[in-house]
Amino acid sequence: MNFNAKLTCTAFNTKQLPPTNFPELAFVGRSNVGKSTLINALMGHKLAKVSSQPGKTRSINFYEINAGDTCFNLVDLPGYGFAARGRSERIEWQKLMDSYFMSERDITFVVQLIDFRHGMLDNDRTMHDYLLKLDIPSLVVFTKVDKIPKTKRKSQYNKLSSECLFSILPPLLTSGEATQNMDELRGTLVEAINKMKNT
Ligand code: GTP
Ligand code: MG
Repeated sequence: MNFNAKLTCTAFNTKQLPPTNFPELAFVGRSNVGKSTLINALMGHKLAKVSSQPGKTRSINFYEINAGDTCFNLVDLPGYGFAARGRSERIEWQKLMDSYFMSERDITFVVQLIDFRHGMLDNDRTMHDYLLKLDIPSLVVFTKVDKIPKTKRKSQYNKLSSECLFSILPPLLTSGEATQNMDELRGTLVEAINKMKNT
């Protein structure tokens, strides 16, 4: 399956958020976990900016996706837990997140990206609790799987997924760099959107 993608909006503040048009999948995760990389791998185009320095994405970026009969927005959000960020920047980040998540948008679910080397860290739990309070379901996707040797992946997966029972589906293993499992992930996302629409 192909994701036919175009960037439709870049919002740095509440006023710049676009009107709701399609169901949305929002990608959240710590800075540097690989949100923008994974979104690029899913779209098959390097539309999102990626950097080895955490804190690259500062705005909310909306990508309109056409996948066969299904139309939706992939939403790339600025990451959390970037230690070098000052207090005022953290407040700005929280304001932007609140304005996105607390507005009347059609957020079907959130894709919560977790680094496969580390599993859920404190700030991932804080994000999970935040989404839970807002009653927004999440799907866990592990990133940077290529960084763990093949022979250790199964035991690592079992260990980490026991902490992620809240995920609407069993967590998926991905590598945005190696574009591993992208077809599976595209299919799963579209299936999950359609299923959630009908529930
Ligand atoms: P922010 O925009 O700061 O929130 O970060 P992000 O989550 O969007 O991360 P980004 O996609 O910019 O990737 C951060 C760094 O990790 C870059 O150097 C990527 O090349 C690298 N990276 C991302 N995904 C993978 C992966 O699956 N495997 C490996 N080895 N590196 C990855
Ligand atoms: Mg990014």
